[in-house]
Amino acid sequence: MSIEEEWIKLEHEVLNCRKCRLHEARRKPVPGEGNKTSTVIFIGEAPGEKEDESGRPFVGPAGKLLTELIESIGYKRENFYITNIVKCRPPNNRDPLDDEIESCLPYLVRQLQLMKPKIIIALGRHAGRVLFDLAGLKWISMSANHGKVYRAKLADLDIKIIPTYHPASALYNPSLRKNLEDDFRNVIKKAIDEELRHVENKKQSRTLFDFLRKS
Ligand code: URA
Ligand code: SF4
Repeated sequence: MSIEEEWIKLEHEVLNCRKCRLHEARRKPVPGEGNKTSTVIFIGEAPGEKEDESGRPFVGPAGKLLTELIESIGYKRENFYITNIVKCRPPNNRDPLDDEIESCLPYLVRQLQLMKPKIIIALGRHAGRVLFDLAGLKWISMSANHGKVYRAKLADLDIKIIPTYHPASALYNPSLRKNLEDDFRNVIKKAIDEELRHVENKKQSRTLFDFLRKS
């Protein structure tokens, strides 16, 4: 199966999934969206009301802030892939339970294996904790772990995980919002700029190589 076919199969499975109780109250599952060939992925916690309604990640108020933060560092949300740890909305936006996370995680792992990202931005403490667990890193707390680059092996990939505050938590809390904005400006932008420069250089040397081979 080609990578495109694997993605279609995965999305189809998520859209029809009933592996955990979250399928009971959800309207639309939210597999994720964006650039599947990007080496950068943003991972949130779980769909909220607007996401459940539309089937798209980060389209409510938290999503608006995330979109603004991405634009503030010179990119568009379509440049990257955006998804969540669990793909269905927990009733009344409660935290996802451990067994729900466990049921859903294989989808995220498959997404990572298909995408092979180099940088994961973990949005919020749930995403941070779950991804640190997967990578065998020790999660302490968001205030201790945010805004730093952690090199790790996850789903057989060498990646950098950057945890930061969840945009929803920053909406009504100016000090968290400042931390989130500082993380984007000082850490996330640098890491993404460097990664995309690297991708561009690789593309150019491949083009040169092809040119030399043919000439
Ligand atoms: N919060 C999340 O964690 N994910 C979304 O998709 C929307 C809000
Ligand atoms: Fe399936 Fe995940 Fe939705 Fe649970 S949250 S029903 S495991 S897609």
